[in-house]
Amino acid sequence: MAIERLVEPTLAEDNLEEERIEVSLRPTTFKEYIGQEHLKKNLQLAITAVKKRNDGTTLDHVLLYGPPGLGKTTMAGVIAHELGASLRVTSGPAIERAGDLASILTNLKDGDVLFIDEIHRLRRVVEEVLYSAMEDYKLDIVIGKGPAARSVRLDLPHFTVIGATTRTGSLARPLRDRFGMVHRLEYYKQPEIEQILERTAKILNTEILPEATELLATRSRLTPRIANRIFRRVRDYADVNGDGIIDTVIAEKALDLMEIDALGLDPADRNMLELMVANYDNRPVGLNTISALTGDEATTIEDYYEPYLMQLGLLERTPRGRLVTEKGRRHLQNVKNVL
Ligand code: ADE
Repeated sequence: MAIERLVEPTLAEDNLEEERIEVSLRPTTFKEYIGQEHLKKNLQLAITAVKKRNDGTTLDHVLLYGPPGLGKTTMAGVIAHELGASLRVTSGPAIERAGDLASILTNLKDGDVLFIDEIHRLRRVVEEVLYSAMEDYKLDIVIGKGPAARSVRLDLPHFTVIGATTRTGSLARPLRDRFGMVHRLEYYKQPEIEQILERTAKILNTEILPEATELLATRSRLTPRIANRIFRRVRDYADVNGDGIIDTVIAEKALDLMEIDALGLDPADRNMLELMVANYDNRPVGLNTISALTGDEATTIEDYYEPYLMQLGLLERTPRGRLVTEKGRRHLQNVKNVL
């Protein structure tokens, strides 16, 4: 059984309360958006140019990729807001048939932004409809069946697609090529996560001391969504066990309770690394083997666990499989000594 995770960077689909709070914390302008400076500069330039031209042309399609929780959806909202456009949100798995996409597209207006999350999970038939829609703003549909079937071309409004994916590798080349801008979202820098936590504290009316902000930032996997989630748990702890003010003592205790260690790893991360070392010692382990060991799907391991573990240098991908690094082993040992 896979271990349930607090530091899961995806939003649980059934957690409406969490989604409500996350939405309320989302910045809506470039000015409010902390971090991703390079991406912001590029987008800001492109958006300013579109607005200055004011000739009916729209922003190029934008593909955002990178690990979950880094703000792809938030950025799509900011782009739409800065364009003064409406945002329509959907996802690859939600568009089951070509007809579903056709209905979304025909309901758009000129200049609208269509955000497609997990765009790598679009079905091939749907993807093919999207090609000509993105390229020429035309919708090719077949009416009728058998010998009477005929194909018609409908004009679509000029819209902008913002695609989000955790993996560009699994995006079909023709689809990828239709994006004028392709950008990777990077992990945030520690001071940026601190700023995000300070902003969240202000919005949620909670007092947090600077040392505690720093401590939480070191445990947040350089990921805003996780920072905000941990913040709310620590705030609960402070309300129940103290006077609501978050200081380092409260923060430490709450993090211990969540079993989040000094590098921000949770029991599931450590479990994976430990199983690899225990079963394969110093030898590389194949992805499917790790999946069998932990009970997680291979894609979950690739998309959610590995990027941060590799970023920290605890795990390496080699041509022969995954390897826990010397640093990774030392970390596991340190955590054992502390607990
Ligand atoms: N909340 C979540 N992500 C954020 C970001 N990048 N900037 C400001 N607030 C955020």
